[in-house]
Amino acid sequence: MAVNVSELKEKFAELFGGGGNIRAYFAPGRVNLIGEHTDYNGGHVFPCALTIGTYGIIRPGEDRTLRLYSMNFDHMGIVETSLDDLTPSDEAGWTNYPKGILWTFEKRGYHLEKGADILFYGDIPAGSGLSSSASLEVLTGLMLRDTFGFDVSMVDLALIGQYSENNFNGMNCGIMDQFASAMGKKDCAVFLDTNTLKYEYAPVKLPDAKIVITNSNVKHSLVSSAYNDRRNESEAALKALQAVVDIQTLGDLTEEQFEQYKDAIKDPVCRKRAKHAVYENRRTIHAVEALKANDIETFGKLINDSHVSLRDDYETSCAETDLLAELAWNVPGVLGSRITGGGFGGCTVSIVKNDSVDLFIQTLDKAYTEKTGIKAEFYVVEIGEGAHALD
Ligand code: GLA
Repeated sequence: MAVNVSELKEKFAELFGGGGNIRAYFAPGRVNLIGEHTDYNGGHVFPCALTIGTYGIIRPGEDRTLRLYSMNFDHMGIVETSLDDLTPSDEAGWTNYPKGILWTFEKRGYHLEKGADILFYGDIPAGSGLSSSASLEVLTGLMLRDTFGFDVSMVDLALIGQYSENNFNGMNCGIMDQFASAMGKKDCAVFLDTNTLKYEYAPVKLPDAKIVITNSNVKHSLVSSAYNDRRNESEAALKALQAVVDIQTLGDLTEEQFEQYKDAIKDPVCRKRAKHAVYENRRTIHAVEALKANDIETFGKLINDSHVSLRDDYETSCAETDLLAELAWNVPGVLGSRITGGGFGGCTVSIVKNDSVDLFIQTLDKAYTEKTGIKAEFYVVEIGEGAHALD
């Protein structure tokens, strides 16, 4: 559905009544071009904001009640909570995300006197791994900041989102998704050093190519526990390395240093995880250099290498996303293709020459359905702005 903000405001008035200071906001989802599972390993990432994301309409409340409604979860109706009772629960479903942001604001000393009425609508496909939850978190933070006049920067909003996701929602994610949603910039990817939070915008100039996201439409279960396992394995590898080399994070190592010290990691699984984290970080740095030099071929090749590493060493790919990447590699005019995001299903991202986009979609669509019985979805995407007010 094309999103019409006045229609969202009408829906808001229908649900919560009209009048008062009603404002509209948007926070995007993201796609990561390269630099996967590096953000909690002190490495670099290279995501960009999308033009799909989550919309929010907010009005400050009269008392300490928070009233939330999502057009994506109509069956849940208006969910009411008191600001004095912000605890996560399974039954609370999607509302755990906005509640976690309020909870984090309070924890950081930004006291909310009054609640709010908020309507949400998101156009990120459910379960696609394009960061619908991060966009919901950043959006809620931005709305609260503006509505209640809190003095927090956009980078703080990303950190608040991550803190809430880690501590309220129990998903031990890194900073990438929230950072991309808060700080994204049109037609640029964000080259972020997750160790220092220093960042740079790199224009993604693809004169004769497009970014195509392919949704495998599979989401394997236990994603967040498998994700947390990867974090733990990377941490164990770091500890083993710290016995022989003075480093703070895996992102401190070059490929050569890793090869020199890797035998200190006795567990072969942890060694593979660390290898991915080190090499992926270096690939990301090289990929950004290649992009800046307009060397799209090298950029694409590094994207392919990233997939192989996620498949073989980090093991966050799965049969369906492996199939999509392999099919893509065989289509003429595809410069690079890999799984993107947390993994275990979700999407691939591909750089496809303009002339080959139709062939790419037809080929993958047919072969993927034939082999898996599942229908993939394709999105030829534009890079959008980070979170912002709409009026
Ligand atoms: C998820 C997490 C991010 C990041 C990616 C993998 O999207 O939320 O912090 O770790 O996985 O790169």
